[in-house]
Amino acid sequence: MPDPVRLQAPAKINLHLRVFPVGADGFHPLRSWFRTVALFDELNFRLGKELDGSDSLDLIETALAIVEEGADVRLACSDPELATDDSNLALRAAYAYLKRGSIPLDISLDKHMPAGGGLGGGSSDAAAVLVGLDRLFGCRLPFAELAAMAVRLGSDVPFFLHHQIDGITDATCTGRGEIVQPFEPARRHVVLLILPGLHVSTPAVYRQFDAMPPPPDDGAPDFQGWSPLPALELLPLLRNDLEPPAFSLHPDLGRLRADLEQRLGRIVRMTGSGSTLFTLFDDRTDAEAAASGLNRHNVRTLIA
Ligand code: C5P
Repeated sequence: MPDPVRLQAPAKINLHLRVFPVGADGFHPLRSWFRTVALFDELNFRLGKELDGSDSLDLIETALAIVEEGADVRLACSDPELATDDSNLALRAAYAYLKRGSIPLDISLDKHMPAGGGLGGGSSDAAAVLVGLDRLFGCRLPFAELAAMAVRLGSDVPFFLHHQIDGITDATCTGRGEIVQPFEPARRHVVLLILPGLHVSTPAVYRQFDAMPPPPDDGAPDFQGWSPLPALELLPLLRNDLEPPAFSLHPDLGRLRADLEQRLGRIVRMTGSGSTLFTLFDDRTDAEAAASGLNRHNVRTLIA
């Protein structure tokens, strides 16, 4: 303690997302299959630059002083479009963990995930901040305390916290998303992500969901039971209740999905509240061939 800490924050997709009528707390109960995908932001944590080269006793004293007196967290982000003030969930996560004070602490955030894309980028960064700071300070806090901070930061943050702590990749998430039941999937499909470059507002999509007829119920599928299925058998079972409201707010996104399904000859789904779309393959070579076909039509893709 306390060496610099480096963490990768993965993206997620919602393979399946059922949404139920809004509750009294303003949130919608949901039931979703979350899976991390290999697209990462990278975060580095270290005590203030002024301390570089000083002996480890000073560093330990500084760490203790930060815990007592609070830190001045300086967030640097590779994406100039992203604010580095309190509107950034990563900074809010730092101050959920630490008091505000004057001792410098640096977090650098290398962004690779698009914001507002339904990939959980902000939530994943926030979970990585909670775990990164906890490691920097010698793993002080019990999981339950980190989990309580996570849910206050956002509904998807607890899933990413589980990933950071236990390395889990798949979970059934219920409640407002914060009740996480991890499971071991029998198969990891190759995911082709399609990034339309459109920022979709999550609250706006949920409001539109409220204005539309409730989707039909299909019980509570056993996601772990589905997980061995090959891509072409799994895709028709998948569903996202936020697609109709997102496509009604952004008709171009709905048209793009229909166009992609025709071009690819397979089902394409949206993740979260959008705008990222995805489909699944069993074989990486097939995914790469599909991606290069789409890239020729100026559609941005990633294989994860
Ligand atoms: O929890 P999070 O900050 O990610 O939620 C963003 C917004 O999405 C909420 O303010 C709410 O409008 C909506 N939301 C919801 N039901 C959920 C999760 C999010 O209505 N289960």
